[in-house]
Amino acid sequence: MKKVSFFVFAVAASLLLALTGCGKDKEVSTTGKEEESNGKTLRIVTDANYAPFEFLEGDKVVGFDIDFITAVAKEAGYEPKVESVGWDPIFVEIESKRADVAVSAITVNDKRKQTYDFSVPYFLSTNKILVPEKSDIKSGKDLKGKVIAVQTGTTGQAAVEKLIGENNKNIKKFENNNLAIQELLQKGAAAVVADNTVVEEYVKNNPDQKLKVVEDSSAFNEEFYGLMFPKGSELKGDFDKAVNAIYENGKYAEIYKEWFGIEPDVETLKA
Ligand code: ARG
Repeated sequence: MKKVSFFVFAVAASLLLALTGCGKDKEVSTTGKEEESNGKTLRIVTDANYAPFEFLEGDKVVGFDIDFITAVAKEAGYEPKVESVGWDPIFVEIESKRADVAVSAITVNDKRKQTYDFSVPYFLSTNKILVPEKSDIKSGKDLKGKVIAVQTGTTGQAAVEKLIGENNKNIKKFENNNLAIQELLQKGAAAVVADNTVVEEYVKNNPDQKLKVVEDSSAFNEEFYGLMFPKGSELKGDFDKAVNAIYENGKYAEIYKEWFGIEPDVETLKA
C-alpha cells in the first residue's frame, strides 16, 4: 500500500515538474528564451535627431545612447523598447509616467531635477558653437548681434540666453537640432549652439559644408548626461547599479569605443 502511494506521488510530482518547466532539462534548454521573456518590457523614449547619440537609420533608432540603454536595461533585467517621440514630448511622456525611461543626451541639471529623477552620469558634454569656416565668431561673446539657431528647451538655448539675453529676438528656436543646423546651412543663422559631440560629428561627416566648431569653456559649463525617470521611479536604483556594472565589466568602454573610437574616461563619470 505504501509503495503504491509513493509511486502515485512520484508520477504526479514529475508530471508537475514537466508541466511547470521546473525540471532540470527544461531549465537548461530554455535559458536563452527565458532571459528575454522574463524581463519586463520598458517603454524608452528619445528624440532621434541627435547623431551620434540617437538618430534614424531607415526607420530604426540607432546611436550611442541606444546601445548604452540596451546594455543597461539588459543588465538590470529588463527588455528595452525604444521609441522616438521628439524632444519636448519626452518630458511630457516621462512626467505623465506613460514612458519608463528617457535616453536622449539629456543633461542633468537642478531645474530638471525638480520634476524628474536621473540616473548616475553616463557622459560628459559641453555646448560648443557650430559656424561656417570663415565665420568671425571666435567665442561666446561674439554671439552678440548674431542670429543663433538652437533646439528649443535645451541647455544650448539656456546658454545662449545667458550670453545674449533671454528675450533676444536673434535666438531662433527649433523643434530639433537638425532643423537648427539646416537654418545655418541656409544662412538663416550665423551659428548653432549644441552639444560638442553632436556638432563635432556633424563637421567631421559633412566636410563639403565647410563648417567648424568654436569652443569657449568660459561661456559654456561642463554637463553630464543622465537617464531620466518619472519622479520616484523604482527603476532608478536598478539602473544606477546596472550603469556601474557596465562601467566595471567593460561593456560601457566597448560601446564607447565602437562609437567614438577612443577609450572613455570612466573615472570622471564615476567621480
Ligand atoms: N544635452 C542637451 C540638453 O539636455 C541637449 C540634448 C538634446 N537631445 C536630443 N536628443 N535632441 O538640453
